[in-house]
Amino acid sequence: MLERTACGKIILFGEHAVVYGRPALAAPLSQIRARARVAARATKGVLIRALDLQREFEADAATDEPLAALARLTLAKLNASANLVLEIESAIPPASGLGSGAAVATAAARALAAYFGTEFTPAETAALVYETEKLYHGTPSGIDNTVIAYEQALCFTRKTPPQPNMIAPFRLARPFTLIIADTGVASPTKLAVGAVRRGWLENPARYEALFDEIAVLVAQAQDALARGEIDKVGALMTRNQRALEQLDVSSREIETLLKAGLRAGAWGGKLSGGGRGGNVIFAVAPRDAAQIERALWDAGARRVQTTEVTRDRPNF
Ligand code: PMV
Repeated sequence: MLERTACGKIILFGEHAVVYGRPALAAPLSQIRARARVAARATKGVLIRALDLQREFEADAATDEPLAALARLTLAKLNASANLVLEIESAIPPASGLGSGAAVATAAARALAAYFGTEFTPAETAALVYETEKLYHGTPSGIDNTVIAYEQALCFTRKTPPQPNMIAPFRLARPFTLIIADTGVASPTKLAVGAVRRGWLENPARYEALFDEIAVLVAQAQDALARGEIDKVGALMTRNQRALEQLDVSSREIETLLKAGLRAGAWGGKLSGGGRGGNVIFAVAPRDAAQIERALWDAGARRVQTTEVTRDRPNF
């Protein structure tokens, strides 16, 4: 069976504000991946098997399934029709801010293209997946599908069409250690994004001011990352978290993990992604990582992993 994969992602700074045109910084999680496999079958059409969900459906019949839409859009782009099975498997926990929906769709688009002997550019993949992100999220900024398709740390700014979104690699003086702790609370991004939208509609001035505050933190974080001042990056994360709290997308579980990580010596931390559950990230000194990990497990984290945000080769 032919297989292609796609990475997960984290948002380092700027989630939610990015939906409203402010810049955000995101990085790939290359160790945690979604996989898609394609094989021919005798029956007509495309059968999608979502192995983790123990579900299967026909791409032509399941009109409201994002993956079915992705398969139809991808085949239309390839100008192809085929009888095949598309199997999906993912190590990225769903609804936890790590981009699982976009990763699964990216892996599927790549596997389908490979089946027809071709390969999409990262920009083509990002555009295809954005269409399915709309089904998952309602009003996605486009950051998830972009960082996953390029698999590179980048600064993303949403623009209003016909202007293209701005994407640029951000400068990182040196790799840094990041701990990711899962609250275990599944929280669909669509709901968190919808809640922020309602708040913004009710009180636009307050929300715009918070988005501006986050944009300033993103700019300061870019400076700190470019200088390799990771302790400062951590402190800025905690300030970004305070703004997210005011947007009402934090939660008791997030705050509990945050407090435990900070007390154990993390330079700073914040929720990552939609919030109201999902994952909390921490910038830490490598020598402190083990004790912080232990503290997070003790505070009730369902999964804790240490990773490195690296300076890698630009992909565009
Ligand atoms: O929860 P995730 O991993 O899908 O991240 C969403 C990031 C938001 O800024 C909250 C929404 C968006 O579309 O940018």
